[in-house]
Amino acid sequence: MDRLSALLLTLIASGSLPVSYSACIPAMGMTCMLENLNMLTDGLTTLRQIEPKVFYNIQVRMLRVPNNPAGAFLIRAAEFVNNVEIFVYREQEFQILAGTNLNVVNVLEAKSLKQIVIAEGDITIKELYVYSCMLDRIPPTIGNLPLLTDLTFYRCTMRNLSFNALRKNLRLKTLDLSYNEIDTIVPLTNADGEVSLAIENLYLGSNRLENLDMTAFERLSNLTMLDLQYNNLMKIAAERTVSWPAMEMLDVSYNQLSTIDLQWLSAPNLKRLLMSNNLLDKIPQRLRRFPNLQLIGLSYNKMAAIDLAPLNGLPTLSSIDVSSNPAARFIRSSRPVRLPMLDTLYAENCALNRFNTSGIDLPVIGYISLANNNFSTIPPLGQSFPAIVSFSLYNNPLPCALLKARAELILSGKLILGPPQDASECPDGSTTIAPSFLLCCKA
Ligand SMILES: *[C@@H]1O[C@H](CO)[C@@H](O)[C@H](O)[C@H]1NC(C)=O
Ligand SMILES: *[C@@H]1O[C@H](CO)[C@@H](O)[C@H](O)[C@H]1NC(C)=O
Ligand SMILES: *[C@@H]1O[C@H](CO)[C@@H](O)[C@H](O)[C@H]1NC(C)=O
Ligand SMILES: *[C@@H]1O[C@H](CO)[C@@H](O)[C@H](O)[C@H]1NC(C)=O
Repeated sequence: MDRLSALLLTLIASGSLPVSYSACIPAMGMTCMLENLNMLTDGLTTLRQIEPKVFYNIQVRMLRVPNNPAGAFLIRAAEFVNNVEIFVYREQEFQILAGTNLNVVNVLEAKSLKQIVIAEGDITIKELYVYSCMLDRIPPTIGNLPLLTDLTFYRCTMRNLSFNALRKNLRLKTLDLSYNEIDTIVPLTNADGEVSLAIENLYLGSNRLENLDMTAFERLSNLTMLDLQYNNLMKIAAERTVSWPAMEMLDVSYNQLSTIDLQWLSAPNLKRLLMSNNLLDKIPQRLRRFPNLQLIGLSYNKMAAIDLAPLNGLPTLSSIDVSSNPAARFIRSSRPVRLPMLDTLYAENCALNRFNTSGIDLPVIGYISLANNNFSTIPPLGQSFPAIVSFSLYNNPLPCALLKARAELILSGKLILGPPQDASECPDGSTTIAPSFLLCCKA
């Protein structure tokens, strides 16, 4: 028979509602909503009466089952649906038995769950998601899900991640262990020779990593995205070269990094390097190792000056963000720098008062934002960068006389100073550059 896409369950144990035949209440997303479903009485009959051509999901507000709503229950559910989503799961153990013919199991809140036990043999589950649980490690039996492509344990209590637990999940592409307590990564050991894992997307954000030897990840040879946001990383280093030929995005934002040296990393395809919200005092060196970089994020760091020199030799870099470095007073380049594809530069919310464009060659730059800085002159961006369409000096202490003199630049849309204002919003003075076009400025 045709199976429905999902059985969405809210398991609220106990209570004693009268047992009655519950017909579908149609809901959003072609959902059949059932107020209650009692698998001890007429539950199966009710499920069998739901027409798969009319409804796509079944949502059950209250489900009654003889015992733990995993194990045998999942096999039963698989007669009717491909995906099971359990809103609240109250047991300590979750069993998946041989013959469980489901694609997706999604458990949204499992505050007591300590153990997942997966039997050997013929389980078709491809995606397993568990949110809010008490698991302290990847279940040792996870290898009994050979078709698994996506695995999530989000907001659980894992302390370490051992890749050995996943050595039989050779199709696993996405692993999300965000919001755990992981402080240790145990690399794959050599027991089976040179096994590589297929993981492409690895989310380890919001954990407790401090000092990470990146060789722990080296057998993840297909890694495309590594998310290490919101840890306590002071250092990311490796004792030998780690090669990630497919790596496109490395995110180390929201850590405690005061330097980043990526010389251990061979990632010729890296496109996005995100390092915002750290303690960096300059743009990292040796970025030329990554000739396909398109985006560099460096906002919310501790740069006192923004020296663009380390960016030289990045032929495809199209956007860079150095905003919110509150101590940064100027942008310059200590050596000639040419960025043939740079299209946008964000340097907002700093204390910039100078942009020395000499030696900086940005042939296609279209937009530069210097909003919320400390410029009292208009840097010569139009002359230095012929392709520029516009640049913003919104909320800088520009003198009123200067704005009046450069009214044309503003009215043409090239110099952006924000929408017309009202004199009452301007604590330091204002000027009218055209009929009913008043701007704040420094009198
Ligand atoms: C990983 O965590 C498990 C469970 O907390 C523990 O038994 C094991 O010793 C840990 N391994 C390492 C290397 O820390
Ligand atoms: C990595 O990806 C390639 C290409 O998709 C694939 O052939 C290979 O089997 C993958 N490696 C692993 C370890 O799964
Ligand atoms: C802005 O520049 C003025 C001098 O032009 C200086 O006195 C002031 O401290 C600067 N403000 C910041 C936040 O750096
Ligand atoms: C601008 O930078 C160049 C090259 O670094 C330097 O020679 C020059 O003195 C700087 N100009 C100003 C006004 O600081």
